[in-house]
Amino acid sequence: MQAALNIIGEDLKLVELQFRKDLQSDVPLIQKVGEYVLSSGGKRIRPALLLLAARLSGYCADQAVPLASVIEFIHTATLLHDDVVDSATLRRGLASANTLWGNEASVLVGDFLFSKSFSLMVRVGSLDILRVLSDATTVIAEGEVMQLLCTGDIDLTEERYVNVIRSKTAILMSAACEAGAILGEVSSDQQLALAEFGMDLGIAFQLMDDILDYVATEEEFGKSIGHDLEEGKITLPLIHTLRLCTDSERAVIAAVVEKDEMSLDDFRAVSSLVNQYGGIAFTIDAANVYIQRCKKHLDQFAPSPVRDALLSLSEYVVTRSK
Ligand code: IPE
Ligand code: IPE
Ligand code: MG
Ligand code: MG
Repeated sequence: MQAALNIIGEDLKLVELQFRKDLQSDVPLIQKVGEYVLSSGGKRIRPALLLLAARLSGYCADQAVPLASVIEFIHTATLLHDDVVDSATLRRGLASANTLWGNEASVLVGDFLFSKSFSLMVRVGSLDILRVLSDATTVIAEGEVMQLLCTGDIDLTEERYVNVIRSKTAILMSAACEAGAILGEVSSDQQLALAEFGMDLGIAFQLMDDILDYVATEEEFGKSIGHDLEEGKITLPLIHTLRLCTDSERAVIAAVVEKDEMSLDDFRAVSSLVNQYGGIAFTIDAANVYIQRCKKHLDQFAPSPVRDALLSLSEYVVTRSK
């Protein structure tokens, strides 16, 4: 994946500078919280997708960097809000913003980042891009609300779960790729191919995130392990397990899901059922199916180093440990 990112290394550095500039505000708390989150070392996958999609589409002018910054702004805003909703204490290996500054500050700075991203988008001046990105932010909000409604529902189906992750996560990756395609003014077939590439990649990305919540180490992942279960989030490894387990095992899972505070033993009990019924392997397989599908969309483009970079980024999604 590092090799993939080298192609856009210079632009990614410019994106970092652009963030800092875009973050400027006369309100010191905004500056402080914003700097803290933006400097905490995210993977920058969404800006990378936008930059690579733009390159693949033949675009080499100067709007890609500001737009890539906007995409990371939107992502950061969703993280600030998401950590409040999920009562998360750890993000990127550090105390989450809500832990340090409280829920109110996180929500309000998240709002600032959202609003600011719209001002920045308008400056780019493409109505098509504005449409794609503003539709995406609406869908993300719907996804987070859908997820809230599914919390604690041990009858959640795989189909509804995939709809949630398509909305809360995949749509932004899809929008990043589609914005790159629009910059490059490719054909509508190619624009669709890039949008679908981002969508399938994003679904696989969230599936892996949900796996890592069961199997990663906190040091590497940078987020608390078992937190989805503790919050009553029913993800695919658990959905698969619930489909296969006995009634008494189901009762064990239901009891843990309902608890406000989960003990390490509770987590171990559920996690061993998830392993026993192949919930992790099933979800890895599902993620791989999406990755195979996502790669196929790039057949719409001639082979090139940039296309290879996007292909290796998609490989990274199913092998990542953070
Ligand atoms: C975290 O996204 C939110 C999810 C959609 C799972 P990333 O894993 O891309 O977060 P950072 O930006 O690299 O920290
Ligand atoms: C993240 O979903 C989706 C958005 C930020 C919109 P998660 O809640 O699974 O992401 P993490 O695990 O907190 O990063
Ligand atoms: Mg979360
Ligand atoms: Mg997660």
